Amino acid sequence: MSDLIDFSQPSFWISAATIVFNPTFWNIAARQEYHNKLITKLFGGNSRLGCYALAVSIFSLGIVRDVLYDRALSAQPSSPLLSTPVVQYSAIPLFITGNVLVLTSMYALGITGTYLGDYFGILMDAPVTSFPFNVTDAPMYHGSTLSFLAAALWKGKPAGVLLTVFVAAMYTVARQYEDPFTGMIYRKRDEGRKKAGSKAL
Ligand SMILES: *[C@@H]1O[C@H](CO)[C@@H](O)[C@H](O)[C@H]1NC(C)=O
Repeated sequence: MSDLIDFSQPSFWISAATIVFNPTFWNIAARQEYHNKLITKLFGGNSRLGCYALAVSIFSLGIVRDVLYDRALSAQPSSPLLSTPVVQYSAIPLFITGNVLVLTSMYALGITGTYLGDYFGILMDAPVTSFPFNVTDAPMYHGSTLSFLAAALWKGKPAGVLLTVFVAAMYTVARQYEDPFTGMIYRKRDEGRKKAGSKAL
């Protein structure tokens, strides 16, 4: 293990820290918004502007995380086990699949749909069921994970594979925390609609 991954490199731990930090940050921010309207208040009561600001923050943090991941990999040994053409070239379809999943889900959801608009009260009319949501239930997370794996394999770095496992674990935890909550937000909306409907009768 020790010659596969150099755990003495600070860049490895810095990368791991940003992988943990990002979903933690956006979940804390989103819950603060939902419960206390914190971000909307910061933006003078304009929830759409608040959501765009959160989108810019999450997007920027994502870029920082990607740069630090890249830097961490540069400081790590390559493994002959991973440095075969088959492994290296398998990174290309993984990279393409990952990016298609992320970009098409952003396109399908829009900015507020992608970046936690539900917590701001900016709800979608109906759940998106078109591609890529008809092939995977969490295309953004799965696509992102695939892109991390692709970079690790392309560079032949076992440390990258381990950090990818870390990414997948963080997303799994995040989804267990997020999915029931957003489910609750939409259930409340639907109950409100039903009530409004019965009053109209
Ligand atoms: C998903 O939807 C796309 C079009 O939006 C379609 O081409 C594709 O066949 C669908 N895939 C599945 C597995 O249903």
